[in-house]
Amino acid sequence: MIDARNFRDTLGRVPTGVCIITTQNEAGILDGVTVGSFGSLSLDPPLVLWSLDSKANCHQAFRAAKSFAVNVLSEDQTDLSRVFATKEARPWSELTHKPAPKTGAPIFENCCAYIECEMEAIHEGGDHDLFIGRVVRLEAAASGRPLLYFGGSYRRLDTDRVD
Ligand SMILES: Cc1cc2nc3c(=O)[nH]c(=O)nc-3n(C[C@H](O)[C@H](O)[C@H](O)COP(=O)(O)O)c2cc1C
Repeated sequence: MIDARNFRDTLGRVPTGVCIITTQNEAGILDGVTVGSFGSLSLDPPLVLWSLDSKANCHQAFRAAKSFAVNVLSEDQTDLSRVFATKEARPWSELTHKPAPKTGAPIFENCCAYIECEMEAIHEGGDHDLFIGRVVRLEAAASGRPLLYFGGSYRRLDTDRVD
């Protein structure tokens, strides 16, 4: 048996970036969630992936979504990350955001990168679902330091090269 605490602590040794995945449905309703599970999957075709707890409030919205946007957070966006990592309703009217050009999903200012996707596939994976997106638009900031998550805390990237 794998103990849940041990699983979390051990997997917490894997550093991740922090992203807010957002979507807008046909009625214009916005939703979003903070994730550390975002990553690349395939170059040709260009696919990315992330996973979401089936018990998340936004789960149904993403199951039904035809597209989504990935906001890759900068190191000064911990407050924004926290807003989308709670069970509270999202305070959209208090946040500065605009619709992403291709998908209309909300994107925030000053992120390191934006990745717009059409929903390619959704697979069940235990208590999470795996979302696979086909990239339709990419935008990377010329500079920008990413927000990281490691060992249960937000971190900055130490950009010293080790090679
Ligand atoms: C750094 C960080 C990374 C996270 N990564 C994920 C993730 O990959 N998948 C997930 O389902 N929840 C993840 N969470 C937790 C969700 O953000 C959190 O459960 C959120 O409250 C879900 O919102 P909702 O239930 O209101 O939709 C993460 C939280 C943090 C702080």
